[in-house]
Amino acid sequence: MPLKIREMKAGIDSIELFIPRPYLHYVDFAAMRGIDPEKLEKGIGVKSMAIPDSDEDTATMAATACLRLMEKNHLSPEDIGRIDIATEGGLDESKPLTTYVIGMLEQICGKGSFQHCMGVEYKSACVAGSRALLDSVNWINAGENRTKASIVITSDIAKYDIGSPGEYTQGAGAVAMLLTEKPRIISLDKGVASWVIQDNYDFYRPHNRDTPIVNGKHSLGCYVEQVAKAFKGFKDNVLQLGVAPHYNFTNLIDYFAFHLPFPKMGKKALEKILFEEFAEDATAVGVPFLRYLVERVEDKESLRKILDIKKSGEVFRQKVEPSIAGCAGVGNIYTGSVFLSLASILEAEHFERKDIAGKRVVFLSYGSGSSAVVYSGVIGSEYAYSVGNGILMPALENRQRITMEQYEALHRSKARAPVIEKRGQFVLTGIDENSRRTYKYIE
Ligand code: CAA
Repeated sequence: MPLKIREMKAGIDSIELFIPRPYLHYVDFAAMRGIDPEKLEKGIGVKSMAIPDSDEDTATMAATACLRLMEKNHLSPEDIGRIDIATEGGLDESKPLTTYVIGMLEQICGKGSFQHCMGVEYKSACVAGSRALLDSVNWINAGENRTKASIVITSDIAKYDIGSPGEYTQGAGAVAMLLTEKPRIISLDKGVASWVIQDNYDFYRPHNRDTPIVNGKHSLGCYVEQVAKAFKGFKDNVLQLGVAPHYNFTNLIDYFAFHLPFPKMGKKALEKILFEEFAEDATAVGVPFLRYLVERVEDKESLRKILDIKKSGEVFRQKVEPSIAGCAGVGNIYTGSVFLSLASILEAEHFERKDIAGKRVVFLSYGSGSSAVVYSGVIGSEYAYSVGNGILMPALENRQRITMEQYEALHRSKARAPVIEKRGQFVLTGIDENSRRTYKYIE
C-alpha cells in the first residue's frame, strides 16, 4: 500500500557528481598494509577509494560538480538564487567555501554574474549536507525563492592517518544538487523529518589537523544509536499523521539511503532498525519478553537464529543493496555520502529497467559529534529523464589506478606534480604567502 504522507513539493531535480580520477585499489592497499584483502572486500565492503590529486581541493571538486550541473540543465547564473555548500573540510576558518566556488564559476560565466546569489557554508560533520538540503527545500516551499532554483553542494576529502583503521574507509568527492519547486528526481515529504543530537567525541578534527581523531568502535555505536533514534522519531511523526499502520512500518519504505562511511555500515544500521521494530511490534502485541531478549542478548547472530528473523537479509538485498555501489567504489565522502547512496539507487534500478517512480526513499544521515536526521521523499514520474545516462558511472569514467607510493606522496602533500593530467575541470594553481588560493579551468 503506498504511504500518503502529505502534500509534496520541492526537492531534488538533478544531481551531478565529481569524483577525483586517481583511485587506490583495495588489493594494493591490503598488500601494502598487511591486511587480508577479504577483510576490506567482505568485512568492510570497500573496493576502491578516490584520492584527490595535488591540484584538487574541496573547492575545485565543488565548483566542477556545480558547473557540470549547470551545463547539464542549461542554467545561467540568473536562474540560481542560492548556492550552499556543506563540508567537513572548509578551506578557511572564516571565508565560506561558496565564495571560492563563485570565484571559479565567474571565470566561466562572467565577473559579477553571481553577485545576487545567496550562499553559506554548513558545518556539522557528515550530517551538514542534509541540513543544507532541508533548509533549501523549506526556502523554496515557503516561496522565498521567487521562482529561482537552489543548488546545494557537498564536498569532502575523507582523509585518515596512515596506518589507522580509518585509512581504508577514505574517499573524496562532491555532489551538486539542483533543487526546484517541481523536482524530477525526488519530492521531499513535509513535516516528518526527525533530528537527534548529543555531545560525543566519536570522530572529531581539532583546528590545524587535516586528519580526525577517531574512536572507531565508539563511532560505530554512536552512529547506530543515533540513526535508530532519529528513525524512531521519523516513524512517530508519520504515525501521528494517521497515514500508516503501527506494525511492520518498514514495509512501507522502498529504499533506505544511509550515510555510508563504508558499505557494511548500512547493514549494521538496518539490523538495529529492524530489531527495534521487531521489539516494538512484539511489545505492542503483548510479548514484552521479546523486547527483553532483543535488548539483553549480546550475541545478535544467535538471537536472529532463535527468533528466525530472516527478514533483515532480504530487506537489505531489496532496499539497501542498490545504494552501496557508490560508497564501494569511491569510499566515504562525508557530507555527500547519503546522496551518493541516492544516486546509486537511481542508477542501479534505472539500469535494471525497473520503474521506481512513486517509490519512497528514506534518508538516514549521521554526523559525528554527533547528530542524525531521518527524512523521506517520493521519486518523481520524470526521474528517468534526469538520470539520463547515469549519475555515478559518468563520474567514474577514465579513472586511473595509482600506486601506493603515489598515494602516500599525495597523502603527505609531498607529490611534486599532479599524478594525472586534467581536462574539463577546475584545478588549484597556487597558494600565496597570505593563504590566498588561485584556480583555473582546464578545458
Ligand atoms: N575476512 C572477512 N571479514 C573480516 C576479516 C577477514 N579476514 N577480518 C575482519 N573482518 C570483518 C570483521 O569481522 C568485521 O565485521 P563485523 O563488523 O560485521 O563484525 C569487519 O571486518 C571490520 O573488522 P574490524 O572490526 O576488525 O575493523 P577495524 O577495527 O579494523 O575498524 C572501523 C573498523 C572502526 C569502522 C574503522 O575502519 C574506522 O575507525 N573507521 C573510521 C570511523 C568510521 O567510519 N566510523 C563509522 C561511524 S562514524 C561516521 O559515520 C562519521 C564518518 O563518516 C566518519
